[in-house]
Amino acid sequence: MTGFDVVVVGSVNRDYVCRVDVLPAPGETVLGGEASVGSGGKGGNQAVAASLLGARTALVARVGRDDDGRALATDLAAAWVDTTEMAATSARTGMAFVMVDAHGENSIVVAPGANLLLEAATTARAVRERLSSTGVLVVQAEIPEAAFDAAVRAAGQVGARAVVNLAPYRPVPAEVLALCDPLVVNESEASGLLGREVRGREEATRAARELSGRARSVVVTIGAAGAIVACGDQVDHVPAQVSQVVDTTGAGDAFTGALAAALSAGIGLVDAARVGVRAGSYAVARPGAQASFPRGSELGLGSLHKRG
Ligand code: RIB
Repeated sequence: MTGFDVVVVGSVNRDYVCRVDVLPAPGETVLGGEASVGSGGKGGNQAVAASLLGARTALVARVGRDDDGRALATDLAAAWVDTTEMAATSARTGMAFVMVDAHGENSIVVAPGANLLLEAATTARAVRERLSSTGVLVVQAEIPEAAFDAAVRAAGQVGARAVVNLAPYRPVPAEVLALCDPLVVNESEASGLLGREVRGREEATRAARELSGRARSVVVTIGAAGAIVACGDQVDHVPAQVSQVVDTTGAGDAFTGALAAALSAGIGLVDAARVGVRAGSYAVARPGAQASFPRGSELGLGSLHKRG
């Protein structure tokens, strides 16, 4: 069962989306526009993003025994994600309520449901069974803390690289942070880690430099301005070329999944971040989360993994 290029431990949600002109203020009711349902969840999204670029990808997750869980499984299978470890539970499948405004910005509320039943021991076993030292773990923070920590430590035990997307922000033990390679955060998550506001390229560069003393490497994503990559003393800016923003939902996941796929193909961190930025830029120009992610051919890359 080993031999996956990428193993993602994370959340899966059905996304219930409504377009609005302006996101409502507290206490306000607004009439929305077009409504839709799609597959999402940061874990599912990152798995699809990696798999579409040619990485053999497995997902460790939890759903309910309901239509949403079945729809998620169907969409993941269509993207060639292995879901052997996406077990069905008695809880309801995770749901996300997404509003997207006229500028493509969103507000999301997640009802985690079955995602909260992902527990540490089975997660650690699933990671150890599926990853070898050449593989890459990807984890985000919409799952219980114990499962999150166990996944990162299990990757460390088999010598696999751990790509840790601290989204949404939560405090992490120093020894878990030290295993992140890279730690991937946006400006608001970097703010949570550093206890001060991080906004814009200059502050993100300072933040990346500072956080690289706590993790093996760090990527701070800065939206349309791309990403800052820090490893040891080296800090690089990877610019983005965003021509049109339709919907930013899942763009960070497209970035992280693509970055992981590139790393698992042996590409260096800065160039892997370039692949991630291109995947994110592609995603924001299209509606939805997983539905907006590119295949390798759509980025002019083909499959990152050359197999005989
Ligand atoms: O990152 C975007 C994702 O966040 C959505 O797909 C939603 O399900 C929430 O998990």
